[in-house]
Amino acid sequence: MNTSAGTVSRAPIIGFVLGMLVALCIGVAWLTIGSPLTWPGAARLALQERRGEEVYNANCLACHGGRTGGTIEDSPPRHNANGHTWHHPDCAIRTMIREGSAGIFEEKRADAPQMQPFKGTLSSDDIEAVMAYIKTMWLPWQRDVQAGFTKEMCFDTN
Ligand code: HEC
Repeated sequence: MNTSAGTVSRAPIIGFVLGMLVALCIGVAWLTIGSPLTWPGAARLALQERRGEEVYNANCLACHGGRTGGTIEDSPPRHNANGHTWHHPDCAIRTMIREGSAGIFEEKRADAPQMQPFKGTLSSDDIEAVMAYIKTMWLPWQRDVQAGFTKEMCFDTN
């Protein structure tokens, strides 16, 4: 009969559509938990960088300057591509932010301005966010070199 013939001929299409939906769900799930280079990872990173920019502008900008200008000899050091912060691995940068400069260097340099410890005022998430933001000031090759230092020198890095 016509009706049953119609039902039978639609079955493969319904099966195909359901199959595509399942494949789409698997694809989205895979992307969501996948590498940071996939779009959900990139979106998370962009949000973290934006948060970091707020933290930076409120707590760091006054001493360290912004994205442009400065030289490698400036003190306090520039964090941008003209400075030398990218010469340091993540663990060193994180410790400097947590402990401040007086907590890191044994001899107190009375002539140099000091950086306060931020572990009491910034959460770990804020510190990670500010680091993510600082990295946006670097050139791609500086980011690559610095990521290499982190890989070689940091064993406590998350
Ligand atoms: C009162 C000024 C001041 C403020 C505010 C400040 N810093 Fe610093 N910071 C310094 C000085 C001075 C140094 C250099 C210390 C030294 O080498 O003796 C330094 C060094 C650093 C370094 C090491 C960089 C390098 O290239 O060697 C990092 C990283 C850093 N600061 C991050 C931050 C972050 C992130 C903030 C904000 C959360 C911040 N600082 C706020 C003064 C400041």
